[in-house]
Amino acid sequence: MRKPVIAGNWKMYKTIAEAVEFVQKLKPLVANSAHCDVVVGPPFTALRAVADAAKGSNIAVSAQDLHWDKEGAHTGDVSPAMLVDAGCTHVIIGHSERRQDHGETDANVNRKIKAALAAGLAPIVCVGETLAEREAGKTEEVLRRQFQGGFTGLTPQDFCRIIIAYEPVWAIGTGRTATPEMAAESHRYLRGLVRQQFGENLASQSRILYGGSVKPDNIESLMAQEEIDGALVGGASLKVDSFSAIVNYPRAS
Ligand code: PGA
Repeated sequence: MRKPVIAGNWKMYKTIAEAVEFVQKLKPLVANSAHCDVVVGPPFTALRAVADAAKGSNIAVSAQDLHWDKEGAHTGDVSPAMLVDAGCTHVIIGHSERRQDHGETDANVNRKIKAALAAGLAPIVCVGETLAEREAGKTEEVLRRQFQGGFTGLTPQDFCRIIIAYEPVWAIGTGRTATPEMAAESHRYLRGLVRQQFGENLASQSRILYGGSVKPDNIESLMAQEEIDGALVGGASLKVDSFSAIVNYPRAS
């Protein structure tokens, strides 16, 4: 049994006060949500305050990026140990917006994953094709390249701490969700790549989240897919009502 993960990626939204207010309101709404891991991903500036506000609750805190070095002359960057110090347990790596806006490569993703793991952080690693790539029939080729580049040189012990997020770029922030079947097909392909590289055991244990316009009204059909182990939510994670509704998606009891 894979425990689902519902993670919110707040991107460049929320001041410290807004972030703390969000967590205070979210806490009672997810206090009994033991069916899944609940994660919120504030911007760097709000991490410490959110971690303090979430203390003693079942809400984990994720950063949205990190640098792979322990410390150094990297203006504007944040190290793995700094994230741990700020109360993070997770970190999003390789989000398509970082790949697009900051030239993030698969090689960088790989270095970041290794640095995150060494610091004790659980990486949430994003992969996914653009619309042009999908239309050119290259979805699997892109996923394979990102997977092999991102996860090279990892042991099974490393890999079992990683959460994968399949996020088709064309579905992010567009209101255009992949159909549950489409998402499941890519998840199956990714799970096959896990099997090839790390074996059957890890393939059956690995949690693969879907991301891209997840909303309260489509989470149920996404989660009904055996292959989908949760969601990485952007826009709909910014409001307490919609995020808690996604966490508490209807499930067969
Ligand atoms: P979205 O973003 O839910 O707003 O589409 C998802 C993401 O970028 O992680």
